[in-house]
Amino acid sequence: MTAPFLLAEKLERRVGDTQILAGIDLSVQKGEVVGLIGPSGSGKSSLLRCIAGLDPLTGGRVLVEGRTPSPGDGTVGMVFQQFNLWPHLTAQENVALALRLVRKLSRAGAADSARTMLDRVGLLKFADRRPAQLSGGQQQRVAIARTLAMEPRLILFDEPTASLDPELTTEVLDVIRGLAETGMTMLVVSHEMGFVASVASRAVFLDHGRVLVDGPAKAVFRDAEEPRLRRFLATYLQRVAWAPEPEPATGSPVLLETVANPPGEGMPLTSPEAGA
Ligand SMILES: Nc1ncnc2c1ncn2[C@@H]1O[C@H](COP(=O)(O)OP(=O)(O)OP(=O)(O)O)[C@@H](O)[C@H]1O
Ligand SMILES: [Mg+2]
Repeated sequence: MTAPFLLAEKLERRVGDTQILAGIDLSVQKGEVVGLIGPSGSGKSSLLRCIAGLDPLTGGRVLVEGRTPSPGDGTVGMVFQQFNLWPHLTAQENVALALRLVRKLSRAGAADSARTMLDRVGLLKFADRRPAQLSGGQQQRVAIARTLAMEPRLILFDEPTASLDPELTTEVLDVIRGLAETGMTMLVVSHEMGFVASVASRAVFLDHGRVLVDGPAKAVFRDAEEPRLRRFLATYLQRVAWAPEPEPATGSPVLLETVANPPGEGMPLTSPEAGA
């Protein structure tokens, strides 16, 4: 068995009396896409932030390819719910900025790389627009291009579509799906269960700062036995419009099947602007 690409060992994070992460073990192989799911406050964002080195651990260790990553070394890229783009810069300038500041690329070299990355997310023709002139989905794709430009070994997505209208969600999910197909190693926190079930090779269910379930994504959704996970999935299904009323206490094999085989599966891999 090869050494894991990402090894998170006994991760603990405590702030005051609050135990945020209570001993998380997670190992991820190169090219794996792991979906992180769990109720609000279960520690999903904290786990990603600790892996990226943005929040300090109070116990345990993180290794990416055998080394402890630091926020400035570019090993781990993170995409947030809020796009965090500079409003006064164009899409291209937003992507180029970090390349100039961190990678010390020349102005021309950074511009070239930025355009290549915008092309990858299907936004080359919007390179000269400012964030206010782009839709939320397009802004998030610029943020993804900015992350890709740093050539991270591992990308962490924290609810990348949570602030988008449903029709803009698809174009962002398609970009993530495309990255998965290139073999990028990724952890994706998402409330889009259908997406997690279709793109992630594994799903990890967190509750109260612990891993309760870790297994092949479709099995986690289809054969969920852990009572807390079943309740979580049942609640999710109650919220989505296309699901009939589930049985909250027991879940329902039919409904879990719906999550594991979502209507969106098989959608085109490129966004409408791609290749334009
Ligand atoms: N800096 C902090 N100080 C104290 N408590 C914190 C801090 N950061 C997070 N927490 C607490 O840790 C727990 C986990 O928070 P976290 O944001 O990781 O959850 P989450 O699973 O991402 O939730 P959501 O689905 O709502 O985004 C929560 O109870 C939160 O209030
Ligand atoms: Mg969160």
